[in-house]
Amino acid sequence: MAEWWRDAIVYQIYPRSFADANGDGVGDLRGITARLDYLADLGVDALWLGPVFASPQVDHGYDVADYRAIDPLFGTLADMDVLIAAAHARGIRVTLDFVPNHTSDQHPWFRTAVEAGRGSPERARYHFRDGRGPGGNRPPSNWCAVFGGSSWTRVTEPDGSPGQWYYHLFAAEQPDLNWANPEVLAEFCDVLRFWLDRGVDGFRIDVADGLIKDPAFPDTPDGSPIIPKGADSPVHEVYRAFRRVLDAYPGDRIGVIETGADDEIVALFLRPGEMHLAFSFRFVHAGPDAASLREAVTRTLAANAPVGASATWVTDNHDTTRSVTRYGSLTKLVGAYIPGERRTKVVTAPDLAAGARRARAVALLLLAVPGAAFLYQGQELGLPNVDDLPESLLQDPIWERSGHTVRGRDGCRIPMPWAGDRPPFGFSASPRTWLPMPDSWAGLTVEAEAADLSSMLTLYRDALRLRREHRALGRGALRWDEAASPDVLAFDLATADETVRVVANFGTTPVTLPAGELLVASVPLEEGRLPRDAAAWVRRRS
Ligand code: NOJ
Repeated sequence: MAEWWRDAIVYQIYPRSFADANGDGVGDLRGITARLDYLADLGVDALWLGPVFASPQVDHGYDVADYRAIDPLFGTLADMDVLIAAAHARGIRVTLDFVPNHTSDQHPWFRTAVEAGRGSPERARYHFRDGRGPGGNRPPSNWCAVFGGSSWTRVTEPDGSPGQWYYHLFAAEQPDLNWANPEVLAEFCDVLRFWLDRGVDGFRIDVADGLIKDPAFPDTPDGSPIIPKGADSPVHEVYRAFRRVLDAYPGDRIGVIETGADDEIVALFLRPGEMHLAFSFRFVHAGPDAASLREAVTRTLAANAPVGASATWVTDNHDTTRSVTRYGSLTKLVGAYIPGERRTKVVTAPDLAAGARRARAVALLLLAVPGAAFLYQGQELGLPNVDDLPESLLQDPIWERSGHTVRGRDGCRIPMPWAGDRPPFGFSASPRTWLPMPDSWAGLTVEAEAADLSSMLTLYRDALRLRREHRALGRGALRWDEAASPDVLAFDLATADETVRVVANFGTTPVTLPAGELLVASVPLEEGRLPRDAAAWVRRRS
C-alpha cells in the first residue's frame, strides 16, 4: 500500500523488557519473534525496536559500539533476519532505532580518536576541543548534558598527559559525532543501507534534530547547547541525504524524527525530500483535560499541514512516566526525560484507578485523530509506572549522573507481564528479571486482560479493529464541534462515505451523545450518556 506510514499503528518494543527467550532475565530478539502473533492479533502495522546493536549498554543500547552487529544480549544477526521475515509474514513491518547523534565511547572510531591525538582526522569525527584556563583544565564551554553535569569530558593523551575535552549531549560514554564531517554522513548512509538490505522498513531516528552543534561552542546564559535546526541548518542536508538512501529501496521505507522541538521546527524535517514522520510529544505534555488535548491536536495538525505531513501521536514511551500514572495525579508534566525538556517531576501517590480511566479516554482520542500513532509496549495493558524500585536496583544512567537526585526512567521500562499470577509473569524462565516486576501485576497480564471484556487490552483490540473497519478513524478530515462545553472535546472525522463523531468528556456532567451507532465507549454509558473522564466513538447517521 502506498504511504502506509501516514496512518500506521506502530508498536514500540523495548527489547530488554518485551520477552526473554533464553532465560537470562533480559528480553531478546527470539522472545519478540515468539510473541509476534500477539502483535498481529492486536492489529499493529509496524514495530519499532529500541536499539539492539552491539553496545556496552550504558544507556541501554543508545550507546552503540557497532551499528552493524546485534548485541549478544539480544541475539544474533540471524535472529534478526528471522524476526524480520516472521513479522513480514504476518503483514507487520519492522523499523529499527537509528542513533546517529552519538556513538559509544567503545566504538572503534572513538577509541582510535583518543589514541590518534590532537588534530588527527580521527578526532575530527567527534568534537574535541582544548580546555580553558591554566593547563586547559576547565571545560571548553558551560554547556550542560541532558543527563546532568557538564557536556564535556577530558581524555588522557597517548603520552599520559591530561588532554583535550570531547563533547557529549548525553552521558560521557556517548560522545557526539561531528556531522560537519562528510565521513560521518557517508558512514551512516552505509549503516542505513546495511539494514535496508536486510529488509528493514524504516528507522526511528534518535535525537534527530540534534546532530549539528554551533562549532564555536560559546557559553550560553543557562548552559543550554546551541543546536541549529532552522530551515537553513545543515542538519536538513543530512536528512535529504538519508531520504535519498531510503528512496533507493522499493516499498516505502521510512524515517521517523525524534525531537522535542517546537511544532514549526519539527515540520521543517518533514518537508518534501526529508523524513516521513516526526513524533508529536504534545500528548505527553497534555492534561488530560479538554483544553490541553485540543491544543495538542490543533497545533500539531496546523504545523504539519503546510508541508503535507501526517501527525504522529504518542502518549507513552520508554523515556516518560507511563500515562496511567501521569493521569492519576493530574500533574501537568511528568517524566524523567522528555526530549527537549529539562524539567523532571516525580509523581507522588497517584490515583491509579482514576489514571487508568482517563488513559482509556485518551486512548480513544489517540487512535482517532488523523495520523500515525505509536503505542509503547504495555500501554495496551494499562501498566502503571513503577516508582518504588529500590535505589540499589536503579539502572538508568540519569540516576548516577544526577548525583542520585533524579531516579530516571526505569519505572516505565519494567518487563511485560504475559501470564500467570506471580513474577516474572511468563516474561522469562528466570525469576530474576533485569528490573523486578511488581507482585500486583497479576491482573494486568496479557492472559488476564485477554479474558476480561472490560480490560484495557480489550479496549485497544476493539478500537484498533474499528479503526481498520472505519476509514474515518485516523484518516478523516477533522472538524471541531465548537458548541461543545469547555470540558468536552468533540469532533467529527469525515470521509466521503461516513462520519465518525469522537467525544471525550473531562468535565463532571454526563454528556449526551449524538444520534448514531455507538462504536465503542471507554466506559459503560450511564443512562445513555457519557460520564466523566470517558470517551466514545459514534458513527453518525448521514
Ligand atoms: C532519546 C532516547 O529515547 C533516550 O532513551 C536516550 O537516552 C537518548 N535519546 C539518548 O540517546
